[in-house]
Amino acid sequence: MNDALAQAYPLHLATLRQRADAALEAVGRAHLVIPAGHPIGKHLDDMEYPFAVHPSFKQWVPLLNAPGSWIVYTPGEKPVLIYLQPQDFWHLTPEDPTGYWVEHFDIRLIRTWEDARQHLPKDPAACAILGQPRDGIADFVPDAPEAVVQYLNYHRAYKTPYEQIRMREASALGARGHRAAAAAFRAGESEFGIHMAYLHAVGQTDAELPYHSIAGLNEHGAVLHYMHFDTTPPERNRSFLIDAGASSGGYASDITRTYAAPEAEEFRALIDAVDKVQLQLCDGVRAGRDYAELHLQAHQLLAGVLKDQGIVDMSPEAMVERGVSSTFFPHGLGHGIGLQVHDVGGFMRSDKGGTIAQPDGHPFLRMTRALETDMVVTIEPGLYFIDMLLARLKERPEGKHVDWNRVDALRPYGGIRIEDDVICTDGDPENMTRDAFAALD
Ligand code: GLY
Ligand code: MN
Ligand code: MN
Repeated sequence: MNDALAQAYPLHLATLRQRADAALEAVGRAHLVIPAGHPIGKHLDDMEYPFAVHPSFKQWVPLLNAPGSWIVYTPGEKPVLIYLQPQDFWHLTPEDPTGYWVEHFDIRLIRTWEDARQHLPKDPAACAILGQPRDGIADFVPDAPEAVVQYLNYHRAYKTPYEQIRMREASALGARGHRAAAAAFRAGESEFGIHMAYLHAVGQTDAELPYHSIAGLNEHGAVLHYMHFDTTPPERNRSFLIDAGASSGGYASDITRTYAAPEAEEFRALIDAVDKVQLQLCDGVRAGRDYAELHLQAHQLLAGVLKDQGIVDMSPEAMVERGVSSTFFPHGLGHGIGLQVHDVGGFMRSDKGGTIAQPDGHPFLRMTRALETDMVVTIEPGLYFIDMLLARLKERPEGKHVDWNRVDALRPYGGIRIEDDVICTDGDPENMTRDAFAALD
């Protein structure tokens, strides 16, 4: 993989430079400045939260643990990396810069946070400084013009070949973890035990993963953001929903699978039906397709599953129109993914800003842009048995069309979500997640 990265990196960097050139020119600034950021201290404590590098910083260099470092880009010049290697015997300090990207930077080593100032441009007013105010030093405080941030966020949706290599690797690592987690589920492990198996197989710590894993057994599959790990196994592992990703050079994968115990035949039939729908939706990741419209198609198809499986006796159209499908599928179809698991820019109308609203009644959809070549999105339809939402549906006239006995029989399995990461190409979509699982077979 390193050779492929080394080959792809120059074009990646050239693309970032072009974007920066355009963003700076539009606002008449001379330099783009990107702090890595610094760790956030816990209140009244001398401990810090795990460090999360500024996403734009790790887009330029795959350095995830270099707090206090900065990138300075001036059009036409070699980009500068101000690299903080503190002399510190308490902590592991960032290692010497190595790898395919090093030759492309003018690297200045510094020993203290404040030393960065002497390598930063003289006049902060000539710079567009990304990041948050707390990342600043002295008179150098992030305040990039909104036009710069918008332009860069918008274009971040188009992944370079280098970024796609990274994301395939993140998918491969995630798939490996998912296989180990599925085996631990079948062995009757607790959620915590399954999570440990996942981490071990991926080879990453919790803090290195792109997001907090969800590993819900039985009813816990119905809690959309279940962020707890029971340490004791339930009496019986009936079902298992795992939403867990991995990282490669700062790029994320975001993968969900749902499993049924051998005797849970009805639930397995439902998983298979959602899987079919999911594959159909993945096939919709094509240039020109409106993502919000794909989300609405997901509702239509999932409503069809509810009807076919004898859960709701209404036409799929009526279920979608009257919000019944939202009881069972209350979240969005997915989102852009890349440097962040929920990548920025999902609602942007153009690189100058403006937003594309979500369709009425779909407030949790995270992406409304039309799909274009080189965008990467998740496709994550689901069906859940969520007590709170079901109770509301029961009170409504549409509740009469629900087979509540069937719903009650399915509640103990929690819910289903199947999530893949898909590249929109000039032709057929590239499903990195399915490819990664297939490679393990
Ligand atoms: N894992 C978060 C999500 O699927 O969006
Ligand atoms: Mn997910
Ligand atoms: Mn997701």
